[in-house]
Amino acid sequence: MSWKEIYNSRLMSAEEAVKKVPSNSRVVVGHAVGEPAYLLSVMAEHKEWYENVEIFHMVSFGKNEYCNEGMEKHFRHNSLFVGGNTRKAIQSGRGDYTPCFFSEIPRLFEEQLHPDVALIMVTPPDENGKVNLGVSVDYTKGAAKNAKLVIAQVNDQMPYTYGDSLLDVSEIDCFVEHSNPIPEVQPAVLGEIEKAIGRNCATLIKDGDTLQLGIGGIPDAVLLSLKDKKNLGIHSEMFSDGVVELVKAGVINGSEKELLPGKMAVTFLMGTKKLYDFVDHNPDVAMYTVDYINDPVVIAQNNHIVCINSCVQVDLMGQACSEAVGLTQISGVGGQVDFIRGAAMAKNGTSILAMPSTAAKGKISKIVPFLDEGATVTTSRNDIDYVVTEYGIAHLKGKTLRERAKSLIDIAHPDFKEGLIAEYEKRFHCSYK
Ligand code: COA
Repeated sequence: MSWKEIYNSRLMSAEEAVKKVPSNSRVVVGHAVGEPAYLLSVMAEHKEWYENVEIFHMVSFGKNEYCNEGMEKHFRHNSLFVGGNTRKAIQSGRGDYTPCFFSEIPRLFEEQLHPDVALIMVTPPDENGKVNLGVSVDYTKGAAKNAKLVIAQVNDQMPYTYGDSLLDVSEIDCFVEHSNPIPEVQPAVLGEIEKAIGRNCATLIKDGDTLQLGIGGIPDAVLLSLKDKKNLGIHSEMFSDGVVELVKAGVINGSEKELLPGKMAVTFLMGTKKLYDFVDHNPDVAMYTVDYINDPVVIAQNNHIVCINSCVQVDLMGQACSEAVGLTQISGVGGQVDFIRGAAMAKNGTSILAMPSTAAKGKISKIVPFLDEGATVTTSRNDIDYVVTEYGIAHLKGKTLRERAKSLIDIAHPDFKEGLIAEYEKRFHCSYK
């Protein structure tokens, strides 16, 4: 059969396709803005077709109706990263969190979790009978390769990306044509605190460095402070609109990268339509699966990589919790440790944890004597290189417990310094001065 015959013979309505999802099965859903939210909505609409279906994904931008109260008999969410849209369901017991490094998820599917179904979103087939995973290659490709049943929403608004984004039509069992815009994630509104953090981080970035940046206000603020740098490169879990500006300004060109020179190497993308138009058929953007992009050994091939991530709390020894407030899981490890380990292994690699000095409108210090009871250590004290707040930079790598505690107190909010100094003097039996 030609690929066109295969495609046409597997084309069906959303109802016909999702009715094939068996009860008591494990369903993996494509990631972030690559999620086929339409297929999940049709499943939730027909909840009576399902009993005990486990739905796995990381970040989601859909309505996630399957997580609503009353759906418990039909669906249970198992999250690999507790994103905003499913946080409530997990916190109220209608879902679970499975801790895992982002880089390991494809292997988890292959060796342990064995998905029954993958729900993915792709472009229409190209002239060679290949569909393209566009903005989310990450674990989505691995899920499609390992599931017994693959259902794809074919969305003509999905950008076409290069790298390792293709699947053959023969690898997909059901095609559902449905056009909808890719969800847009607006750039964060930057306050003075974020801008100060951005300026401090920028002092640690040199011309020719390769960057990994997460999503949110702090990465955007860092990018804003890089306009005068030269020959920067990207090897990152993801990037968003801020990078587009710097490419257009000639600041990011990847000319000094050792691995994939000239290419922006990523595993997923999230931003506004401006970003999606930029990456569409762009040969400078290289999308690879997360077990490649986030593999610390691969990351370490980028000499001079600078990784910038954020956290919830740092204690005086330099242990960071980046995913929970006490026992409440608000996020996940994601790719943080993948990149911090990779930077630690890279020649002249640098890792930065950047955060405002306080949370809850200034009522809580994020630099604390001890992590909250129940909070997890996401990044260990052995790994953290720099902690940055709006008050400055604490260099921890190679420093004693006493030196690191002192430099962390130096960048804490002034309202909380007294308590931290008292803890320092009690712990180290010496004056802070
Ligand atoms: N004590 C109590 N609450 C705290 C807190 C603290 N020390 N620090 C943060 N919070 C609260 C905030 O007030 C906010 O609450 P709200 O949602 O009710 O407003 C919530 O936790 C989220 O904090 P915020 O600072 O808004 O989060 P963020 O969007 O800047 O993300 C992380 C920060 C740490 C959650 C995020 O960077 C993350 O998930 N990191 C781990 C994964 C990672 O690094 N991946 C790699 C890059 S993609």
